[in-house]
Amino acid sequence: MSAGTRAGGAVRVGLVGLGNSGWYYHAEQNLEPARAGGQLELVAVCDADPARAAAAAERFGARAHTDWRALVALEPERGGVELVVVALPHHLHRDVVTGALEAGRHVHVEKPMATSRADADAMLAAARAAGRQLSVHQQRRWEPDFQRVLQLVREGAVGPVRRVEVHRSHAGRYRTAGDGTPHTGDDVATWTEGADTGGGVGWLIGPHPVDQVLQLLGPPSGVTGTAHRPPGSDVEDHLRIDLVFEQRGISASARIDVHREAEHAAPRFRVVGERGDITSEDGTAVVVRDAGGAVVVVHDGLEPPGRLGAELYASLAASLRGGPPVAVPGEQGRDVVDVLERALAPAGSGRRTVKVAIAPADARSG
Ligand SMILES: NC(=O)c1ccc[n+]([C@@H]2O[C@H](COP(=O)([O-])OP(=O)(O)OC[C@H]3O[C@@H](n4cnc5c(N)ncnc54)[C@H](O)[C@@H]3O)[C@@H](O)[C@H]2O)c1
Repeated sequence: MSAGTRAGGAVRVGLVGLGNSGWYYHAEQNLEPARAGGQLELVAVCDADPARAAAAAERFGARAHTDWRALVALEPERGGVELVVVALPHHLHRDVVTGALEAGRHVHVEKPMATSRADADAMLAAARAAGRQLSVHQQRRWEPDFQRVLQLVREGAVGPVRRVEVHRSHAGRYRTAGDGTPHTGDDVATWTEGADTGGGVGWLIGPHPVDQVLQLLGPPSGVTGTAHRPPGSDVEDHLRIDLVFEQRGISASARIDVHREAEHAAPRFRVVGERGDITSEDGTAVVVRDAGGAVVVVHDGLEPPGRLGAELYASLAASLRGGPPVAVPGEQGRDVVDVLERALAPAGSGRRTVKVAIAPADARSG
């Protein structure tokens, strides 16, 4: 694309943040040589924790940094990187993303891109000013069941869509990475539980289903949210987002539920159209029924959502070598942030916060 993009060869990547996401979802699952397929080369890693940075450098054969500024400063021609992948806690995205763009690097940032539309817009403005590419890791757009649902909707399998429902959960508190696996560490990632660090299920889990619903129905004309904060917590453990779509020939509503409970029987996706409905219960099968309830199509044997990101990284590498535009440009990440910000807005601007005072067990038993 723009000036500063090298003509060919593998894209030289620097990875900032080596926790659950950086170490496992980016480095192990997409950037290590067997997975990167010669399109991408992880040359530098950064974490504020020196031991983690050093261990990752050894594991992935990359240079270690503890300050992201040093990682982004070096020109690709002098051993530096073209592309910076930012996998830090949400509230740290803005400064690192804008700093990397201003240093002349392309940036791929984890979801949510930011925790305010203003920050997302500032990041997009920095990309424009620098003439660099900014993209967002909304890799769950490639979940096998969602891809089937999207294809069926686009083919008109159930006619015009009237209603979409999506349920997602992250069971229990959000743990740091363990030794060899994500989310199995002894510690809770405290930033996921503080209101000033982007905590709560809305920002943590919400970006995936919001991105999927925007893929299905386009931009919403209305968004409201209902958040439940448990006693003693600053952040929500359940967010319900209600959206309406009344434009460009679409007249539909959607409801997204993200919460901290264990996975339950609610379908992952349910799409109701004028001529039938599409359901994915657990991700392994997508069933289409006609308006009378008869099953007319079954796509079964689907891989449950697991390792993901290959499609997005392939698109990212191609886009930086003159191929089609990247699949999730920053503007789409900003649209996701916009929906979540509106759903989480303070009372009076659309959000209703429900705070439940739970009576002691003995008081309830009678
Ligand atoms: N796309 C997905 O499916 C997915 C999955 C998990 C996490 N994420 C996203 O990835 C981001 C990180 O989540 P996580 O679970 O990896 O968090 P984490 O807490 O496991 O890891 C964060 C890492 O960043 C490091 N760090 C903190 N401040 C730093 C700084 N100033 N400079 C360098 N390193 C610093 C920490 O030491 C830690 O190793 C979040 O935005 C989250 O939403 C996305």
